Amino acid sequence: MNKKRVLVTGGLGFIGSHTVVALQEEGYEVVIIDNLSNSSIDVLAGITQITGKTPQFENIDLRDKSSVKDFFEKYPDIDGVIHFAASKAVGESVVKPLLYYENNISSLVYLLKELYKKDNASFIFSSSCTVYGQADELPITEDAPVKKAESPYGNTKQIGEEIIADTCKTKPDFKAISLRYFNPIGAHPTAEIGELPIGVPQNLVPFITQTAIGKRDELSVFGDDYPTPDGTAIRDYIHVMDLAEAHVHALKRLLEGKEKQNYEVFNLGTGTGNSVLEVVKSFEKVSGKKLDYKIVGRREGDITAAYADTTKANEELNWKASRSLDEALSSAWKWQQVVEKKEEEDK
Ligand SMILES: NC(=O)c1ccc[n+]([C@@H]2O[C@H](COP(=O)([O-])OP(=O)(O)OC[C@H]3O[C@@H](n4cnc5c(N)ncnc54)[C@H](O)[C@@H]3O)[C@@H](O)[C@H]2O)c1
Repeated sequence: MNKKRVLVTGGLGFIGSHTVVALQEEGYEVVIIDNLSNSSIDVLAGITQITGKTPQFENIDLRDKSSVKDFFEKYPDIDGVIHFAASKAVGESVVKPLLYYENNISSLVYLLKELYKKDNASFIFSSSCTVYGQADELPITEDAPVKKAESPYGNTKQIGEEIIADTCKTKPDFKAISLRYFNPIGAHPTAEIGELPIGVPQNLVPFITQTAIGKRDELSVFGDDYPTPDGTAIRDYIHVMDLAEAHVHALKRLLEGKEKQNYEVFNLGTGTGNSVLEVVKSFEKVSGKKLDYKIVGRREGDITAAYADTTKANEELNWKASRSLDEALSSAWKWQQVVEKKEEEDK
């Protein structure tokens, strides 16, 4: 049994909680840091229900430098860190840029400063395909140029990657990987954990499931005049469990010293693009529900199409997304129904 100890920041959030499950299933000891700013303590019970094990939990705000320092004094034996904790609402970041720069950048710096004191630190960073903007070529490889960020949120991911790369340059035994996620969707198949968007969802799939359950009147499809086969925008939707498992592979690569450079970047996607209308059709098929939607104008900042070239992740991380769009949507729908039931019971 692997007894390596891993710190997962933001481990009660959407992607973090699924990754904690994947790590525990591989025998890792997990310590979570989360300040519950965008998650619930109930997620711990969901993780326990699935894996039979409760991870250690520390309610710490990573913006508090001295708490971060205290954490590493309390847990001197952390072998690796997966850093999910961040604010992620693109629209909100435009209105409150300083909140985003403070939360996403200062937290990162405080963590890195503590890790820098260690030998052989292993660090995994949640980045995003937003760094590519509208790429000139599809599918998008890791060599595609990083374009000027469209929002403060996107900028925090670009700056974050640069901070990590600069740090790695100065310390050869400091190892890090940035994972550029495409569009994570779905939930654990047990529906014990899933995505909990606060307020009106900004992403397509939670909007679809909330519309189907009756929480939203109808889905707005932003634009049907894109240069794509059906006119709607195309994205690479990846099941959150596939994404979670990729983190375990990336961490193993660093812990086993298999990295080719001490700073590396990987795309995490399926390699397939699906249009908004294809997602709607797939959802209708797996849920048996007819979805009310209307076509409205394009949304500012949205790009036409983005999907990953996953060759590098497939070959170097020895990982490949295996779950289908239908499977991901079916799990998202099951999760939505559980959330609805809980909300009804709490009324
Ligand atoms: N979900 C996506 O579509 C997507 C896409 C690309 C990249 N990402 C990145 O992946 C990471 C995880 O995203 P997610 O969808 O799971 O988000 P999430 O909001 O569900 O999870 C983030 C977690 O971090 C916690 N957190 C935030 N600030 C904190 C702080 N200062 N101290 C301690 N905890 C803090 C929140 O309470 C939450 O539980 C983020 O860095 C996000 O930017 C997400």
